[in-house]
Amino acid sequence: MNALLELARALCDEAGLEPSVVPDVHLRAALKRRQLICGAPTLEDYAARCAARPEERGEILEEVLVRESWFFRDQAPYELLTALASTRWCNQDSPLRALSAPCANGEEAYSIAIALAEAGHSLSRLQVCALDLSQRGLKAAAAGRYEARALGQLPASLRQRWLIPTATGHYLVHAALRACVQYQHANLLALPAALTAQRYQVLCCRNAMIYLRPAVRRRLLEQWMSCLAGDGVLIVGHAEAALMPSRWLQPVGPPGAFAFEHAPVAIAPVVRATAPRRSGAPQARSAHPALRPPPQEPTRRPVAPSPLAEAAALADRGRYAPAAALLEQLLASDYDQVEALYLLGLVRAAEGDVAAARRCFTRALYLVPAHQASLEHLALLAADGEDSAAARRLRRRSAHAAAPE
Ligand SMILES: C[S@@+](CC[C@H](N)C(=O)[O-])C[C@H]1O[C@@H](n2cnc3c(N)ncnc32)[C@H](O)[C@@H]1O
Repeated sequence: MNALLELARALCDEAGLEPSVVPDVHLRAALKRRQLICGAPTLEDYAARCAARPEERGEILEEVLVRESWFFRDQAPYELLTALASTRWCNQDSPLRALSAPCANGEEAYSIAIALAEAGHSLSRLQVCALDLSQRGLKAAAAGRYEARALGQLPASLRQRWLIPTATGHYLVHAALRACVQYQHANLLALPAALTAQRYQVLCCRNAMIYLRPAVRRRLLEQWMSCLAGDGVLIVGHAEAALMPSRWLQPVGPPGAFAFEHAPVAIAPVVRATAPRRSGAPQARSAHPALRPPPQEPTRRPVAPSPLAEAAALADRGRYAPAAALLEQLLASDYDQVEALYLLGLVRAAEGDVAAARRCFTRALYLVPAHQASLEHLALLAADGEDSAAARRLRRRSAHAAAPE
């Protein structure tokens, strides 16, 4: 088992995965599954098979990768994309480019295409590139055939427009929509130059960075900064939003979209340092005020009346100092302590004050030991600080907190 376990660990390492998210117990289970699928009587027989067939390495990796995804996941990011496509990007001459990285089974790539098409963009002008390390995921994406549960939060009217029910109870993505999406087998650690040479209006990197080693994640973010068009948006997963560097990126859109655009001041040097722009390509956002959305975005939700919601809205707009001041005030007046502490933790993390963020999450856990979001963020901060033992411990607690009674 040891040699096999070493092989599985090496594969995870090549994928940039943080060791604490793929503990040995998962790897052993994955290897056992492959042994059974291959019909090898013992693990030693399976090890011999791996040595004889190098392609078996890919199959082990497939067992480890988590391809959980669904259409219109979180919904708000897609509402934002439709709004931006009908305002900010409505007069664009060149094709609207989007990248879904990673795309799992294609649900995200098709959701992006639907959201953009719903704003009235012709399908022939949409170019969605979808990449993943999983060949199984890419095969499913290309087939574009889904079980009903994969449709997730896709509104019924959009389902009727873009998917066709089949006799087997599945749903098939409309051929014209499938034609907008190109699939590519790629590792986030070594993105092909043809992909990174493009500038994308929509760059979705959701629910993947949390699984990557901190150094890999930082490198990837730098890469995304240079691939993001001047008027583009980077959309991340909910647990990843607090990790976005506020020096480079500022939030855009409604709460829950977890969307970011270039911050006006810091972007120029970063982009120039990593990749010179082609002439005619959109420049940093600050250079093109005409590309900015109208001041009153139709999708921005009205500020909710509660002070906690007000603080959240301030934080969402990148106004961390007033958000923090409001939260400190709430905490001093014995307001809903846990959620205020959690939000203050997010704000401190966004400001780059990791120690203060840690203190907030820890205080939230002192009040509610199973506060899962605080556990997740503490685990991320621990992993960021290269403390993988603590990250592992916190993730176990978080998984335990999430488990149904
Ligand atoms: C949980 S899914 C997220 C899918 C989608 N972005 C979403 O949010 O619904 C994570 C995906 O990351 C892919 N992945 C993990 N490591 C990768 C890497 N190094 N390069 C490319 N894809 C990777 C997995 O194969 C899996 O499909």
